[in-house]
Amino acid sequence: MVLEMLNPMHYNLTSMVPEAVPLATMPILLLTGFLLFIWSYEDTSSIPGPGYCMGIGPLISHCRFLWMGIGSACNYYNKMYGEFMRVWICGEETLIISKSSSMFHVMKHNHYISRFGSKLGLQFVGMHENGIIFNNNTALWKVVRPFFIKALTGPGLVHMVTICTESVVRHLDRLEEVKNESGFVDVLTLMRRVMLDASNMLFLRIPLDENAIVVKIQGYFDAWQALLFKPDIFFKISWLYKKYEKSVKDLKDAIDVLTEEKRHRISTADKLEDCMDFATELIFAEKRGDLTRENVNQCILEMLIAAPDTMSVSVLFLLFLIAEHPKVEEAIMKEIQTVVGERDIRIDDIQKLKVVENAIYESMRYQPVVDLVMRKALQDDVIDGYPVKKGTNIILNIGRMHRLEFFPKPNEFTLENFEKNVPYRYFQPFGFGPRSCVGKYIAMVMMKVILVTLLKRFHVQTLQSREVCIEKMQKINDLAVHPDENTNLLNMIFVPRNSDTRLES
Ligand code: HEM
Repeated sequence: MVLEMLNPMHYNLTSMVPEAVPLATMPILLLTGFLLFIWSYEDTSSIPGPGYCMGIGPLISHCRFLWMGIGSACNYYNKMYGEFMRVWICGEETLIISKSSSMFHVMKHNHYISRFGSKLGLQFVGMHENGIIFNNNTALWKVVRPFFIKALTGPGLVHMVTICTESVVRHLDRLEEVKNESGFVDVLTLMRRVMLDASNMLFLRIPLDENAIVVKIQGYFDAWQALLFKPDIFFKISWLYKKYEKSVKDLKDAIDVLTEEKRHRISTADKLEDCMDFATELIFAEKRGDLTRENVNQCILEMLIAAPDTMSVSVLFLLFLIAEHPKVEEAIMKEIQTVVGERDIRIDDIQKLKVVENAIYESMRYQPVVDLVMRKALQDDVIDGYPVKKGTNIILNIGRMHRLEFFPKPNEFTLENFEKNVPYRYFQPFGFGPRSCVGKYIAMVMMKVILVTLLKRFHVQTLQSREVCIEKMQKINDLAVHPDENTNLLNMIFVPRNSDTRLES
């Protein structure tokens, strides 16, 4: 209302002022009104955060997100204003929360099942009202999510144990392909290939050029991360977005080709039972008219990028931490020997591998890859006494929460942090509730399988002579936490077990 009154396009201001008032007082009146507006705006917000200050506050906070990266900016603001604070992103009020009680409230309730991000940015990467991860059309998201749940739990999850074991073994047999001239292993590339291969074997089952697609997935992720919060003006300047456009197109084109091949195979298959998998279910839904072709292709794309984007870096961090903590490695090896022995890992081992599980959890707590969760309030609410308006953006800073509450030694990597049962409100690496990570069970299964299969064969070392450790590793904390890949210090030494061969570091 106040804004409207201040907008000369809507009102003839002179007609609203008595004629006796001289024209020279108009600017003063306008200024007074404007200051009143700013004053009243700031007064309504009881949530800590930077001041609005004639729109400078929102500008600065948005710039900080673009400049520092989403995760780093969230940590900065929580440290500065407390664990429940307010900034602006793209001019929209955004809460940054790192308090377990408020986080629990948001994750639990159905009126926070939407996410947020620049509409143009999401359109650019094909995620606007499409796919699952950033699909903010909740009606469509509700249609799509069950396809993911079905593929990632039950028989699919059981089958993943064999698929993933075979994939790790196959890639370890060809380790030379990811070694540099000094014999050091490029763990990230190795893991990305394993994740893509295992995902393809379960969800799509079309032969693909693993190396080429892994590179395209990285390009797509970079574009998604870079465009998510870009202001609209960015999308008007073609030379700024050109390289992202190409990265997105490269991956989409590759997935389109694979999906077409899948459609062809389904239409020519003798027995449909042999074809049933995630991609087939989606293609059938398209034939029934439940989903569009664009939607099907985007869902397949997102299913194929989910594991390489998150788990390859998670496993890299975990291997670094294991290499730096010989006692943890010892405990893991002892458990592997007792539970699995000389054979390959099986589904019934998964539950019994408690030390392995705690090492994975502790690694995700101490050095997370997914540091934050993005949601939107779909109705007015009150969280921990703070009023939250419908449409407010929310970032849950889970990484920070994992270092602030409950854990006895929050700033150390130690299995002691998981010795006691951890109530789930204090540990949420996958989120929980209706919009939680749909791959959380399969992710844990895959990480256990990879760790067991790899560690049974190799002892892992970092390039110690160059003082590489996880704390000193250069990282970027944006949409996710990623190591700076412009260095070969991320490589590791894989020493075969039962062998005297030791590679020089
Ligand atoms: C270390 C591994 C992983 C981590 C830490 C992780 C973490 C997360 C988190 C925090 C979210 C947001 C949850 C929320 O809003 O409450 C999420 C969403 C999601 N994750 Fe994962 N994830 C991992 C692996 C996977 C894997 C392997 C898949 C599938 C193959 C997957 C599929 C998804 C999907 C589809 C969503 C979006 C769900 C939706 O919006 O409905 N994730 N993940």
